[in-house]
Amino acid sequence: MSHKIDTVVFPVAGMGTRFLPATKAVPKEMLPVVDRPLIQWAVEEAAAAGCTRFVFVTAPEKGAIMSHFSDAPHYQELLEARGKTKELALLEAGLPANAEIIETFQDAPLGLGHAIWCAREATDDKPFAVILPDDMVQHTTGCLAQMTAQYEAIGGNLVAVENVPADQTYRYGVLDPGAENGALVEVKGLVEKPVPEDAPSTLAIIGRYILDGQIMETLSEFKKGAGGEIQITDAMAELIGTVPMNGFRFQGTRYDCGNRDGFLEANLAFALAHGDDALRQRLRRLLD
Ligand code: G1P
Repeated sequence: MSHKIDTVVFPVAGMGTRFLPATKAVPKEMLPVVDRPLIQWAVEEAAAAGCTRFVFVTAPEKGAIMSHFSDAPHYQELLEARGKTKELALLEAGLPANAEIIETFQDAPLGLGHAIWCAREATDDKPFAVILPDDMVQHTTGCLAQMTAQYEAIGGNLVAVENVPADQTYRYGVLDPGAENGALVEVKGLVEKPVPEDAPSTLAIIGRYILDGQIMETLSEFKKGAGGEIQITDAMAELIGTVPMNGFRFQGTRYDCGNRDGFLEANLAFALAHGDDALRQRLRRLLD
């Protein structure tokens, strides 16, 4: 069976309440890190990993996300008339030329597992990737490309993981880890958002997944877990023993852009990496 990943799902229907008032009128995925919105960084990461089908699980009030990936004739005409070729290229918003865009709605906030299930028709029983755009990973090879390179050989369910401080496990899906093999960690069990006393380890899932097509059938059971929500963590845990499951220790630094401090840190880190020397000097002076 081919393990090539061409489809990526972006669960972007959430309300972004941790980032009010910034997200009152603007979806959190549209907040910019340096010069492009979070969702565009996520799309570019997926495109760099070879994805060509981009599935947005969204909500009617978050129309700005789909607008960002649509044609913008008003801009196009203006820029063409003025001969601004550089700016015209920036209208592409990071999608590859052969991209297929699929929009689907999550009609109720029933959890991440439910959001992913809403993409079932687009994934067609095949393995697919999931990116949570508010988790950013900074590295020259994107986190998803690192994962797809491993996935060809192993298949199953694969999640990006990193160690978090012991008192932070309640914010993540946490692994009960087994044998290690290079960057891969066998997953014997999973717990969603455990308090530190109940956490099987401090190895936490961050927002990158490659999921076996069978996950959709498990999710369709609509079992509620932590917080009364349908959790992707529980569905993956249920498949352990049937579908191989691994954690992947990725290369790079991860920023949680779903909260203010993580978002500001990401902006600074990406500005330092992408800005010119003059900007870097000014930023350093500000910090000093
Ligand atoms: C979700 C998942 C959790 C994972 C986290 C990564 O939680 O449910 O397992 O560790 O993303 O960011 P959320 O951040 O949506 O509460």
